[in-house]
Amino acid sequence: MADGTDQKSSNQMWGGRFASGPSAIMEEINASIGFDKKLYAQDIRGSMAHAAMLASKGIISPEDKDKITDGLNTILSEIESGRFEFSRKLEDIHMNIEARLATLIGPAAGRLHTARSRNDQVALDFRLWVKEELQKTEGMLTALIAAFLDRAEENADTVMPGFTHLQTAQPVTFGHHCMAYVEMFGRDRARVRHAIEHMDESPIGAAALAGTGYPIDRHMTATALGFREPTRNSIDTVSDRDFALEFLSIASICATHLSRLAEEIVIWSTPQFGFIRLSDAFSTGSSIMPQKKNPDAAELVRAKTGRINGSLIALLTVMKGLPLAYSKDMQEDKEQVFDAAESLELAIAAMTGMIRDLEVRKDRMRAAAGSGYSTATDLADWLVREAGLPFRDAHHVTGNAVALAEKKGCDLADLSLEELQAIHPGITKGVFDVLSVEASVASRVSFGGTAPSEVKKQIAWWRGRN
Ligand code: ARG
Repeated sequence: MADGTDQKSSNQMWGGRFASGPSAIMEEINASIGFDKKLYAQDIRGSMAHAAMLASKGIISPEDKDKITDGLNTILSEIESGRFEFSRKLEDIHMNIEARLATLIGPAAGRLHTARSRNDQVALDFRLWVKEELQKTEGMLTALIAAFLDRAEENADTVMPGFTHLQTAQPVTFGHHCMAYVEMFGRDRARVRHAIEHMDESPIGAAALAGTGYPIDRHMTATALGFREPTRNSIDTVSDRDFALEFLSIASICATHLSRLAEEIVIWSTPQFGFIRLSDAFSTGSSIMPQKKNPDAAELVRAKTGRINGSLIALLTVMKGLPLAYSKDMQEDKEQVFDAAESLELAIAAMTGMIRDLEVRKDRMRAAAGSGYSTATDLADWLVREAGLPFRDAHHVTGNAVALAEKKGCDLADLSLEELQAIHPGITKGVFDVLSVEASVASRVSFGGTAPSEVKKQIAWWRGRN
């Protein structure tokens, strides 16, 4: 301790878990290889495009370019077959690959990093990864939407109670309710498509931050890597993580939709509601209560939203105080995105499975749809239409009818004509045509309304839009 050697190997206050003092701590906080190895394929693809461009512009020789390409192909197969040894000493995926390239092909490896920096390299790799993830998400949302369209079609005239405040409001169809989710996930998919377009610019060639004096061709690398065009400002290029923030924002909104759906599934599958039965594949039993079937998958989807929203807030917070251009803080971008992407994929897949498999209990939905005076609005509308009452008065008369039915413990449709006429003399027997839930839903033919005829139109519109 006295001469400081002990302190170097293991600091008394904080060195307990570190084998060899401060440099080990630096390595631990600095290294990103533990997670950015996920970017290996993008890194190799980016390097190949960069090397090809350097050769075509005469910045490196064709022989060096071939050696680099062969070496990178070897590394790709080493990583994919699990033979590659990642080293934390080499910090990140970029340096791990470059060091291995040097071992494989010698000095030519050193020419690959001409006219680029890890700053534009990481921006490129990560953008490629996020773009692919968005494309995958687009496909998964399309599958979820397709599952909902099928259920909506089967249930275009399945009557259920519609709720506001989770209190019975007006009868709707289950098909219509399914189509509400199609709209939500359709918007998510549109956001995904927009984000892909928005981020479709190649960062490579921005170099450290100022661009480069080598005669590079950024349009060539952009095209080779499947981007629409190169980014336009080298400072912004290496400072920008909007594409990651956009991914996380989209993921958070989508997860919020999934969570609302999960909540409805949890409620609907209780014995008290009994609107649906989940398949065994997406529920679990209780170790102590044999009667139970728990909607665990739905609950976990609901919970994943917390993680995904957390990732968005974490990265927004990392980025919010950063001066231009690159700062190492930005290395913290990847884990948030990787974790959110994994959670979102799982959540969408689980939800698609649940929607495909669930059993709709039409009898239970129908029974619930008729209770809770769900056709009270229809009675009020009838009074406006047929008895000429102003809506406010019709609302009051209907309130009296509901109060009477409540007192008698029956539905509105069970009141006799005499009882209704005592409340308002203008009521005739025609009123009974609108008091049934079927008549109620069939009457709501306004554009986007719950009538089966409308719901079928909505389904057809979406079918044409996959
Ligand atoms: N591992 C780094 C990251 O993820 C790569 C970029 C490093 N750049 C630098 N100037 N140190 O952000």
